[in-house]
Amino acid sequence: MSGQTRSFLSGTLETMKVLGIESSCDETAAAVVEDGSRLLSNVVASSMELHAKYGGVVPEIAARSHIEAITEVIDQALSAAMCTWKDVDAIAVTYGAGLGGSLLIGVLTARTLAIIHQKPLYAINHVEGHVYANFLTSKNEANIATSDYKLPSTQPQFPLLALIVSGGHSQMVFFRDHFDYTLLGQTHDDAIGEAFDKVAKIVGLPYPGGPSVGRKAREGNATAIDLPKAKLTNISPELQALRTQVQSTATHSYDFSFSGLKTAVLRACQQLIGEDHTFASKNVPERLTEVQKANVAASFQRVAVETVVDKVLLAYQEFSPHSVVIAGGVAASPELRRQLADRLPCPIDYTDPRLCTDNGAMIATLGCFHMKFGRPTADPYRLDIRPGLSM
Ligand code: KG4
Ligand code: ZN
Repeated sequence: MSGQTRSFLSGTLETMKVLGIESSCDETAAAVVEDGSRLLSNVVASSMELHAKYGGVVPEIAARSHIEAITEVIDQALSAAMCTWKDVDAIAVTYGAGLGGSLLIGVLTARTLAIIHQKPLYAINHVEGHVYANFLTSKNEANIATSDYKLPSTQPQFPLLALIVSGGHSQMVFFRDHFDYTLLGQTHDDAIGEAFDKVAKIVGLPYPGGPSVGRKAREGNATAIDLPKAKLTNISPELQALRTQVQSTATHSYDFSFSGLKTAVLRACQQLIGEDHTFASKNVPERLTEVQKANVAASFQRVAVETVVDKVLLAYQEFSPHSVVIAGGVAASPELRRQLADRLPCPIDYTDPRLCTDNGAMIATLGCFHMKFGRPTADPYRLDIRPGLSM
């Protein structure tokens, strides 16, 4: 990355407008955000339907869909925000983590636009971006393109505890301030969203699994099936350093594991239909009754959500954050929101579910903070993708 400054800025920092571009998985998305808090537009084209019959995202199909959609999505985001290129102060683009082919389309498009329109370019970490969806507020005068979004009335305050739960990530992060954070824990294997998607496949529910398992769970008994919660003991050096700094004597881990839970669901299903562990999982759905499917969905959802909520409570007690936010596709889950409301002593002002799943608004919002804090811009001639980027 190069160290260009903000010489391109057309307005003041308070009215800066950033175009965010997101293409890390199967959503081609663009949005315009003003001042890191006002949502002016949010356009998402998803290729999800094309992947549904495969039960998960097919990288080649996702990349091709991005190529077809990206120009139109960006044009729509600008026109819905009533912006021309003259009004845009910077471009922010996801450069990792994600699927290589998918990231490449967004990054190459953003680089080209930054060169043609002479705008500063900010390289955004997708997972950090998810957290920043929570900084969009309803305080602005209603914008016609986004007036039906239900947004928090104020921005979260630091220190901030963030639970990031998506199809690719399950992480707990403690933010002291913008760009100053410690990763408390993360998954050792499957992300929680991935577990929802795999369990959906086991019981024969459509992709994406989060919403379909959630809907089926409403008909079931959440305590019908006994499922295990993984117990991990790993403490990262960063967590230990933070504990020393805040003089905490706690010794528990904030890491997650969901692959054992997913396997336990498969074993429970095989048992329900009177088969052993050698019975092929692809033949399980046709043998389960609707009641059994609903009970499996409800029991799995309860345990998976409890697993992350248990850790949020522990971190809340240990680090006393001013605000708690949840981010990523699984943050749209009504069950997660219900369990947190029941158990967490502080209320959470949740953002609109459309801003939990992948979108350009979260990328644009974090882009605004990069600009505000004078973070280095990316070189539009050189910015490369980072598929394995971590926090
Ligand atoms: O954040 P996201 O759109 O993409 C990634 O960065 O991974 O998250 C997608 C994940 C999928 O696993 C999907 O099943 C899950 O989020 N998801 C949900 C809901 N909506 C999407 N999980 C639970 N409840 C939902 N309503
Ligand atoms: Zn995501």
